[in-house]
Amino acid sequence: MRYYGCKTKLLDYIEDVVTTLPVKKGAIFFDIFSGTTAVGQHFKKLGYTVYSNDFLEFAYSLARTNIETAKIPKFKKLGLSDDIIDHLNKLKGKAGFITKNYSPFNGNKRQYLSVENAKKVDVIRENIENWKNSKLISETEYYYLIASLINAISLVANVTGTYAAFLKSWDRRALKNITLEHGEVFDNKKENRAFRADANDLVGMHKVDILYLDPPYNARQFASNYFFLELVAEGWFRKIPEIYGNAGMRPYEDQKSDYSISRKAADALLDLVTKAKAKYILLSYNDEGIIPIPVLKKILSTRGEVKEYTKEHKRYRAINQDGSKIITKEHLFLLTVKK
Ligand SMILES: C[S@@+](CC[C@H](N)C(=O)[O-])C[C@H]1O[C@@H](n2cnc3c(N)ncnc32)[C@H](O)[C@@H]1O
Repeated sequence: MRYYGCKTKLLDYIEDVVTTLPVKKGAIFFDIFSGTTAVGQHFKKLGYTVYSNDFLEFAYSLARTNIETAKIPKFKKLGLSDDIIDHLNKLKGKAGFITKNYSPFNGNKRQYLSVENAKKVDVIRENIENWKNSKLISETEYYYLIASLINAISLVANVTGTYAAFLKSWDRRALKNITLEHGEVFDNKKENRAFRADANDLVGMHKVDILYLDPPYNARQFASNYFFLELVAEGWFRKIPEIYGNAGMRPYEDQKSDYSISRKAADALLDLVTKAKAKYILLSYNDEGIIPIPVLKKILSTRGEVKEYTKEHKRYRAINQDGSKIITKEHLFLLTVKK
């Protein structure tokens, strides 16, 4: 999935540092800002016990599926004759909340999705909600389907990367038919877990071997930049969201991250590091980040010895919406916790 700050290209770099640590097989690796779950999935494959957390619902659906779930759910109670994903893909689209607000249906100006794809999203999301409400699917099955829908949307959304704005002309990928696929679930024989919480509230509740921190490092809030995925994951069934502006943003006041607010970020990190119950803390940060590197090192060193690793990284520049790449420095700080 295209996601700002996604670590897919840095997995080997992170692995090289983590695998030097003297921890036992199956040690607990806690990815507490999990986003796409790319890091957690990597360490799950390597045989670690992975805990995964993000405070956004769509990211939680990915963690429930990619990290916590070991086998493709059976969806027995639905009693379908065909495969669940085929069944959803074959449903006939129907205009609903998404079509009316986020596709050019009836002259609407917003074009996050083609009308056809938006109608499919509406009908699929409504079916999932109805199945959940009538207890025909379990919570694991529910999140499995939400995750599949989120992944499918990200492949046909008419955006450059984030959802803060839609493209004024149609990207080729947005004109393809939306197609759900089965999730990449696998069993690594460990008790992997997914959480949806504020990292600072959760961190002190779990004793882990390695705590991996990949907090937002700039002022762009994930809740607004990925509001569309969050809207689909949370649904619009209990209360229709009051959407506003050109983008059709939904309110996100209660989902703002302190890590994206310059006057709060350093204090939030200090609080997190202070409360952590981990043998090692590994922090990813970028040299464009709002916490200056010396401040960051000072915060980490309140708990022990810090080692620094640096790598140049070509990053996709969504901010310019021109698809250009810029070179940034990705820092990894390894803290061996003493105090
Ligand atoms: C840089 S991204 C992580 C990217 C991830 N490592 C990946 O590879 O996809 C930061 C994530 O932290 C989440 N986040 C921000 N503030 C948070 C908080 N206070 N508690 C929990 N999650 C938070 C965001 O929703 C976002 O998904």
